[in-house]
Amino acid sequence: MAESVDAPDLKSVDFKVVGVQVSLLAFLYKLTSILKMKIFLDTADTELIQKYNETGLIDGITTNPTLIMKSGRDPEDVYQEIKDMGIRDISMEVVGSADEMIEEGVRLFEKFGFCSTIKVPMTRDGLMACSKLTDEGIRVNVTLIFAAAQAILAARAGAYYVSPFVGRLDDQSVAGLEVVRSISELYRIQGAPTQVLSASIRSVQRAVRSWYNGANVVTMPPSVFEQMYDHILTDKGLEIFDRDCETIKSNIG
Ligand code: E4P
Repeated sequence: MAESVDAPDLKSVDFKVVGVQVSLLAFLYKLTSILKMKIFLDTADTELIQKYNETGLIDGITTNPTLIMKSGRDPEDVYQEIKDMGIRDISMEVVGSADEMIEEGVRLFEKFGFCSTIKVPMTRDGLMACSKLTDEGIRVNVTLIFAAAQAILAARAGAYYVSPFVGRLDDQSVAGLEVVRSISELYRIQGAPTQVLSASIRSVQRAVRSWYNGANVVTMPPSVFEQMYDHILTDKGLEIFDRDCETIKSNIG
């Protein structure tokens, strides 16, 4: 009878690449950042997630307590439904003291597995929870980031993602995209593996400019995703092509 094998502690696994010893966890972090221009949907509306996931272009979902509240559902039912759609990265927000966030984060990870990204706030407790959860091999998204200084601390705490809130900065007359640019540039200069996940996106322009400014991921409401492919000139052009197709058919028919 086969003996059960415990999952390896990724932090302690390392191997050699062209003679250089590297940590498996650091290697996996690098590998996942190779995929460029990742698109996440910022919603807990599973009908809309299902609709847009069918495009094959959705890399993950971010939720927060406000979005879950709007859905009127139990958060874990929402996460389960998203997981069942095959989505491999779901940000699940935890609240409370560092110990409470760690306990909840570990529980969610044990329940939902590798699709779970635990979202913690950019606070002292959030940073402590981030370090601990990262040590356990759990992906952490540090949210409510409004300055590069915060992003430095989050990266030091091992965050997999930091989420600068572009729209909320813009609301305060601070250029949100400039914060995305400074964090991305800073991580590039320092070689930090933490990914910049541009959040609080309210327009296609802000989404596109987030990638221009170095974001690895942009999370956006489904309406913004839809507007990314919707264009009046595309519709107009298609109308003419459809009409001409009909004319060709009647000419040869
Ligand atoms: C990020 O993950 C948040 O869920 C979200 O982007 C916040 O956006 P809002 O400022 O539009 O609420």
